[in-house]
Amino acid sequence: MRKRLIVSAASALSLFLAVPASASGFQPGADGVGDPYLPTAGNGGYRVSHYDIRLKYQPTTDELEGTTTILATTTENLSRFNLDFVLKVSEVLVNGRPATFATSGDQELEITPARPLPKGTPVTVVVRYKDVPSAATLYDYSAWHRTPDGGVVSGEPYGSTWWFPNNDHPSNKATYDVSVMVPNGTQVVSNGVLTSTTSQAGWTRFNWRENKPQATYLTTLAIGKFDITQDTSSKGVPIYNAYSKDLGEDAAAARASVERTGELVDWLSDYFGAYPFSSVGGLVPNIPSSGALETQTRIVYGPGLFADGSNTSVVVHELAHQWYGDSVSLSRWSDIWLNEGFAEYAQFLWSEHENEGTAQELADYAYARYPADHVFWTVKPGDPGVDHLFAWPVYLRGAMALQALRNTVGDETFFRILKGWPTERRYGNATVQDFQAFAERLSGRSLADVFTTWLFTLGKPAVGPVPNAAAAATARPSEGALPAEPKSWKKIQDANSVHAGWK
Ligand code: TRP
Ligand code: ZN
Repeated sequence: MRKRLIVSAASALSLFLAVPASASGFQPGADGVGDPYLPTAGNGGYRVSHYDIRLKYQPTTDELEGTTTILATTTENLSRFNLDFVLKVSEVLVNGRPATFATSGDQELEITPARPLPKGTPVTVVVRYKDVPSAATLYDYSAWHRTPDGGVVSGEPYGSTWWFPNNDHPSNKATYDVSVMVPNGTQVVSNGVLTSTTSQAGWTRFNWRENKPQATYLTTLAIGKFDITQDTSSKGVPIYNAYSKDLGEDAAAARASVERTGELVDWLSDYFGAYPFSSVGGLVPNIPSSGALETQTRIVYGPGLFADGSNTSVVVHELAHQWYGDSVSLSRWSDIWLNEGFAEYAQFLWSEHENEGTAQELADYAYARYPADHVFWTVKPGDPGVDHLFAWPVYLRGAMALQALRNTVGDETFFRILKGWPTERRYGNATVQDFQAFAERLSGRSLADVFTTWLFTLGKPAVGPVPNAAAAATARPSEGALPAEPKSWKKIQDANSVHAGWK
């Protein structure tokens, strides 16, 4: 009894004397979630469940102003915490009380609330801001592209920090309300469903909502003058597409491709299971880009993708990401193969469907095409390094890895894995190791050889992803001429411009 009293008196004393926050058990949240590739991406100490983004944008000046309200829950006792953001902030409230804030590092907004935040409690953070997003840079780059009639954001791994403060890492997905006011005659496109528009005194407000968990980099915003098309796929998925009115020569091919979204999303759902979201569509802004980004439900396509005519391969790739990347998301950026290997393999499957070369023919051709000393074999798709996240080998060798898996487990099991994974892991996060464990469970065998050889070993594997042991015994990299180029090869290779320099 006596001992207990002494102990409690001592701890009470230390509470009163505890000047540094850490001594009282309240500490600053980390400036990153601990990603091995991007140490300051996201932040420690809390998880966001919802973003309410309420903005006003003036296309003539590129001024963006407004308020983002963040609903979060602490995971630690916090004396302060960070958000990721690159625009200028005017005011921050935490749980309704003014908080002090400062910027640090490259994209860090450090917020010190009036009262420390105990672990496991809900927190509301309101951030008010006004800035010119096209002028804000992070690592000498801007993901905000100004256009003659507005602007569009598109960036991976960083994009969202140009328009709302956030916990910028795919391991913290949240739901979103995006509400943006623009001058009458200008439109706003974002993720999910347009729930309403209201007009007042020369301005129109567009209210968008995504009610399924969404990673920050998959959140998009486009402002400008668009032609809108709406439809419903045969399987009932609502489609909303937007094309800049200024696409010029690329307009017809862009529409010929993106208008096939409904047909292609239904086709992919035969392989990957039911489409996970409540809307789908493409957005083709007037930006000088030949890249595409799989922003959730509303894919951003650079018009340059359609400069040589229609490009269904890129539409299939980006739609495949809705399952692989958007619904099932990365836990760490080093797991990028879970996104890109599968989206590329979907292009193989589309080629097979179109009778333009089977997945096996494409894998054989790719294997023969790159000699052992080619730069192609210098990246491990399962751990490519931060500088090679989107390098061609992550995509193509990544797809070859899936063909090797298919040959190892057989078609029946392979297609059960392809459909089972996004079903079992829907709306979640995962690692490559989780996927391997899942494939091993469904196939009832160790797959360490396939994963090690195709994802985690530098250099050209001794044999290609050949169908069986007999074929493996005869296949040698030095033997044989390059097989005939599959009809779809160039379409697959050129579907997206992010890989220049690797081919
Ligand atoms: N994830 C995109 C794709 O393969 C490629 C990509 C990476 C990208 N970084 C980007 C596209 C930045 C646009 C902007 O589909
Ligand atoms: Zn991709």
